Amino acid sequence: MLKGVVLAGGTGSRLYPLTKITNKHLLPVYNKPMIYYPIETLVNAGIRDIMIVTGGKNSGDFLRLLANGKEFGLEHINYTYQEGEGGIAEALGLAEHFADNNGLCVILGDNIIEGNIRAAADDFRAQGMGAKLLLREVEDAERFGVAEIRDGRIVGIEEKPRRPKSNYAVTGIYFYDHTVFEKIRQIHRSNRGELEITDVNNLYIAEGHMTYDFVEGWWTDAGTFDSLRRATNLVAETGANNKRVGTRSGAALDNVLEKAGA
Ligand code: DAU
Repeated sequence: MLKGVVLAGGTGSRLYPLTKITNKHLLPVYNKPMIYYPIETLVNAGIRDIMIVTGGKNSGDFLRLLANGKEFGLEHINYTYQEGEGGIAEALGLAEHFADNNGLCVILGDNIIEGNIRAAADDFRAQGMGAKLLLREVEDAERFGVAEIRDGRIVGIEEKPRRPKSNYAVTGIYFYDHTVFEKIRQIHRSNRGELEITDVNNLYIAEGHMTYDFVEGWWTDAGTFDSLRRATNLVAETGANNKRVGTRSGAALDNVLEKAGA
């Protein structure tokens, strides 16, 4: 079974003072609180067993807002609490008991997409082990984890590189098998004092167990003033989690690029 984890810890310091009295993921993105979008992304992919990792002073508000997830057609939502903000991989590590050896679809609480990830989720279910990333071509790759692709395979990921080796941002939507928790235990804190999800992904790449797809339609984070405004405008213009666009496989995109002579 594929279970879902939404990571909504951290302090949202880049959105201060909006985050002075509330959690970033409770801020509005057009007509809904930010956290609604990643939950809908999981539900639209057929994932019904979901854990939310929160943190900070306002974590109780998530329970008041989401309760048992009736609004999303769910019967129950699991919650856990991250003390401090030790990074995305640290937050994910808190979901080990919940995962219970199942595969996971992990989504960052500030990531919003136009399409759905159903095809990618089905592909990962069929893959049965290892990990899968969703990539998106962007113009400001230095803001993200950036994937280097050679011969149709990801050969490495750099976190916020000054000189990105490609324009392929690693979106905050990840598929992992149960070995992710052993990998989180193997990594060390980065210069910014966090357990980086990029280090976890590089361990899967070193094992040769990493696949990828491309997100079709728009994808954005919403953790800075500019990206929050962008997210709001995109949702207002086209709606999010729209069923018409989804993901396409890396191989398919390679063919497209080849045909285009790129
Ligand atoms: O949006 C995609 C990018 O997200 C990836 O391309 C990067 O590889 C990845 O590191 C991440 O980059 P950011 O620096 O933008 O992540 P940020 O610190 O803004 O955290 C994103 C979400 O992760 C946040 O909305 C909540 C969750 N989080 C983050 C931290 C640091 C936690 O749950 N706990 C944490 O301690």
